[in-house]
Amino acid sequence: MLPRKVSKEFIEGLPKSELHVHLEGTLEPELKLKLAKKNNIDIGQSTIEDVEATYHYTSLASFLAVYYPGMNVLQTESDFYELAMAYLKKAHEQGVVHTEMFFDPQAHIIRGVPLNYVINGFYQACVDARAFGIDAQLIMCFLRDMSARSAMDLLNAAQPYHNKILGICLDSYEHHNPPLKFMQPFSLAVEQGYHITMHADVDQIDSIEHIKQALEIINVERLDHGTNIVENKDLVDWVNQLHLGLTSCPLSNELITDNDLKGDEILDLLDIGVKVSINSDDPAYFGGYIADNYWALASEYKVTPEQIVQLAKNSIETSWISKEQKQLYLEQIDKYVEEYDG
Ligand code: HPA
Ligand code: ZN
Repeated sequence: MLPRKVSKEFIEGLPKSELHVHLEGTLEPELKLKLAKKNNIDIGQSTIEDVEATYHYTSLASFLAVYYPGMNVLQTESDFYELAMAYLKKAHEQGVVHTEMFFDPQAHIIRGVPLNYVINGFYQACVDARAFGIDAQLIMCFLRDMSARSAMDLLNAAQPYHNKILGICLDSYEHHNPPLKFMQPFSLAVEQGYHITMHADVDQIDSIEHIKQALEIINVERLDHGTNIVENKDLVDWVNQLHLGLTSCPLSNELITDNDLKGDEILDLLDIGVKVSINSDDPAYFGGYIADNYWALASEYKVTPEQIVQLAKNSIETSWISKEQKQLYLEQIDKYVEEYDG
């Protein structure tokens, strides 16, 4: 039975899917230090406290300035494997049954790390995680502050790994890097059979124009973040009518804006039927995994158990799995609620 009030424990046990998590953003300070030592990389910090002291952001740009240098510790295929495995275990503990995880190959290739280390390491973790009941898939990102040519090169280089990659995304620094810059690589990605999504980070300069391009010209299947659509009724109607997913990340929103989880926007959109979901984005950097994000929303806003369940159902419905698989997960959610005794 549904509980009268939302609790962290109810959230943690609720079967859910995570659709917006950057594997490089799951690099916890402990693992960062361990890999730095193993690979002889000077990251400028030697204790967890030192590492955490660098985690101060007031904008997307200031977050990315911490996020990219942290990746230097990832050098071997087993480093990528260990990183993904650590995330998948955590996600499993927090009720994740299916996840579609972003990764940023260009950020590794420019450091001289071969693409096969990245993809094979991450993919092997996806395979091994099946043993503990998570279905994990990979979404390859183009960095929008690099060129469209570089994105095309990556798409071509990834061709031999096509069967290990479910979709393509656009992330990184948004200002002056509109979706249209990547028209060509996204068209080709669709031709090649990939699913496509794009970041529309919260409160960016030109947010609405970028969202219009992503929805109306590139024809993305989901929008990552994207809650700025509330500023434009036509965009809300568009997203609602096409049942497009919006992958929102409350703790990320809080840290890169002026303390705003965007809970009002998330709940308003949920209320009118938009398929918004809750996700962790970069959990090692933003202070919490998926259940912590649901809980942040539930504890700071008026959120009912029904709304929490709807958010979890949205995460399944807007995932890129088969209709049959979706049905199975939705039934798991109903069964969990039915049998819940708390
Ligand atoms: N936005 C853009 N780029 C990113 C993000 C994000 O939330 N996380 C990691 N790279
Ligand atoms: Zn993101």
